[in-house]
Amino acid sequence: MKALILSGGKGTRLRPLTYTGAKQLVPVANKPILWYGIEGIVAAGITDIGIIISPETGEEVKVKTGDGSRFGAKITYILQSEPAGLAHAVKVARPFLGDSPFIMYLGDNLIQSQLDPFLETFNKQKLDALILLRPVPNPSAFGVAKVDENGRVLQLVEKPKVPPSNLALVGIYFFAPSIHEAIDKIQPSARGELEITDAIQNLIDREKHVEACNLDGWWLDTGKKDDLLSANQIILDSCIVASTELKVDAKSQIIGRVQIGESSEIINSTVRGPVVIGENCRIENSFIGPYSSIADRVTMIDADIEHSVILQGAKITGIHQRIVDSVIGQRAQIINAPPRPKALRFMIGDDSQIELV
Ligand code: TTP
Repeated sequence: MKALILSGGKGTRLRPLTYTGAKQLVPVANKPILWYGIEGIVAAGITDIGIIISPETGEEVKVKTGDGSRFGAKITYILQSEPAGLAHAVKVARPFLGDSPFIMYLGDNLIQSQLDPFLETFNKQKLDALILLRPVPNPSAFGVAKVDENGRVLQLVEKPKVPPSNLALVGIYFFAPSIHEAIDKIQPSARGELEITDAIQNLIDREKHVEACNLDGWWLDTGKKDDLLSANQIILDSCIVASTELKVDAKSQIIGRVQIGESSEIINSTVRGPVVIGENCRIENSFIGPYSSIADRVTMIDADIEHSVILQGAKITGIHQRIVDSVIGQRAQIINAPPRPKALRFMIGDDSQIELV
């Protein structure tokens, strides 16, 4: 069994962050989203992993994630020259996959469940494809499945206007090598992509064995800001344990579950967990509220933040209104001249959002 993680794509829904970086490397609780997927795959006993990368962000993914040794895995990087669809990514990965069955894992998906029970079902029943489904209130935004009472999949449609059910496809699939033949038979869709749903539908049409399992526990597709913040909240809730030895000055207060990295200074500030703070940060005269993840080398002086994700090297100073529900990119600066500004000065990239609420 091998695994194929898709870490290419355009990431349009997470702009402007994705102009300069891979969305799969955006951190959740200070760990890249992609790494949670790798860890889940390795925990299911699969260590031969291919990662699809794009020309724009591939190098960053490679440098950050490495050869897999840190996860106890062997990682092969596979360049997809353009984001021509999920089935196109499988086609590009064919030399890596050979005739092996594989898990296909979308690199921006996070799930709570372990993969083992699904892998067991897939292997035991010798399926051509096993898909995971989840009822959602807005099925039109997803690939949608119609299944019979025994879990056999009858029909799959990509982002249908009139959905045949409320069952969305989760971004984790199990495939036998027969998927390659199906991919060879399909044509690009109206949006110009080779769709994996069309390839699975082709298996169904040829009466191959395609089944579905319901996914319990949480599932997050972190491609949008609010999903990213929800993922951050859930992971901080479940993973952060209080550090016993936190080095802070006498005027600072640490409440609840808080982790602080090496060489970070907390001066005259309050941190109310669950919160994770990376290494070499300077937090001074500030408040950091629940569900905040502060990456390495962040500076916060006279600032107040809650339920937010701050990426590496960002700087926030002199902002006295509370910053909430925010994602602040690497090295971004939000600076206010004290005590009361006469004007606001901006240098803001395309697709940035500033909400004064
Ligand atoms: P999507 O989120 O469906 O597509 P996207 O990354 O282009 O994002 P957006 O819709 O915001 O523009 O892709 C799911 C995952 O699969 C994601 O991790 C990117 C990856 N992917 C590839 O690796 N190659 C592809 O051709 C496509 C379409 C996606």
